[in-house]
Amino acid sequence: MKTQLLTEKEMERAAAILRAGGLVGIPTETVYGLGANGFDAEAVSRIFLAKGRPQDNPLILHIPSATWLERCCRDIPESAWTLAGACWPGPLTMILPRAPQVPDVVTAGLDTVGVRCPGHALCRAVIEAAGVPVAAPSGNLSGRPSPTTAGHMREDMEGRIDAIVDGGPCAVGVESTIVDLTCTPPRLLRPGGITLERLRELLGQVEVDPAVVRLMDEGEHPRAPGMKYRHYAPRAPVTVVAGQPERSAAYIAGHARAEDGVICFAEFLPLFTERMGAGPVMDLGPAGDTAEQARRIFDALRAFDHTAVPAIWAQCPDACGIGLAVSNRLSKAAGFHIIQV
Ligand code: TXA
Ligand code: MG
Repeated sequence: MKTQLLTEKEMERAAAILRAGGLVGIPTETVYGLGANGFDAEAVSRIFLAKGRPQDNPLILHIPSATWLERCCRDIPESAWTLAGACWPGPLTMILPRAPQVPDVVTAGLDTVGVRCPGHALCRAVIEAAGVPVAAPSGNLSGRPSPTTAGHMREDMEGRIDAIVDGGPCAVGVESTIVDLTCTPPRLLRPGGITLERLRELLGQVEVDPAVVRLMDEGEHPRAPGMKYRHYAPRAPVTVVAGQPERSAAYIAGHARAEDGVICFAEFLPLFTERMGAGPVMDLGPAGDTAEQARRIFDALRAFDHTAVPAIWAQCPDACGIGLAVSNRLSKAAGFHIIQV
């Protein structure tokens, strides 16, 4: 199969492929998604094949406005309308009781479903034109860093899907925040562009699922099945060094071998690029700019796959605001191999 690269002008074509049961890469403000008609079980099962995704990992339904919530969910609590009003369109996925018309393959048999209204206007236009909710995981091969450009998506999906709509680089750069509204208090299952602080402002108490901050033990079941898998992994092993930026930079400088790869804050670039025989160094952005770090994190992890580095060392921001999402993705890439300095 040849994968067509579509522009904004060919949006109707993308919608037609989705309606006909095909697979389309869709741009969102978080990361690129691998979309199929969310009400067509056969089309959705092709997503799992194209990604090599385990069947027990459910998908998120994407809708163009909160008015479609009732097509996907039932018993919608007041808190969902509050969040939709304040955060949609935007990088927030809500877990809600599933409507009967949502096929089992979407939810991996769970009685809940994840729903999100993306903040990318072209994405919403494609879904609106398709006329159905679009089931879409991130558009990477299973286990790889999520794609934040159409080019990344092509690297992983060329020949495996019908088309990719190029909507430019993703503005947020990490996947959506996931909040489970089917439990009390609501629970953060994955940190993202809508911060934990913001959720607490809107909802009051919000718990953080343990899978956000540590590796799950064998036999433990995180509420978001996807959180149990090793993720975002470049081919070389990653060590995260957390703590005050000057200290983490000094630690890495003292421990990394010359040929190792480094992900560092902009301020420390010279420290690493001027090493003798320096391995590749990726700039995560300024230490204080976590939004920029979120935009760069997956590109940085992906970049090492074009090199032969034996190991990767990464500086890590504090877990405040979107820093919690950056820290979570780095920690997952490292299999939670974190050194606190
Ligand atoms: O930003 C995003 O959310 C991107 C873009 C494409 O929208 N999508 C995305 O999908 O990150 P995916 O499949 O890569 O991650 C979805 C996560 C998985 O960890 C999955 O286990 C969890 O959401 N999930 C989906 N449905 C769920 C449910 N009903 N209950 C608990 N977790 C769920
Ligand atoms: Mg994913």
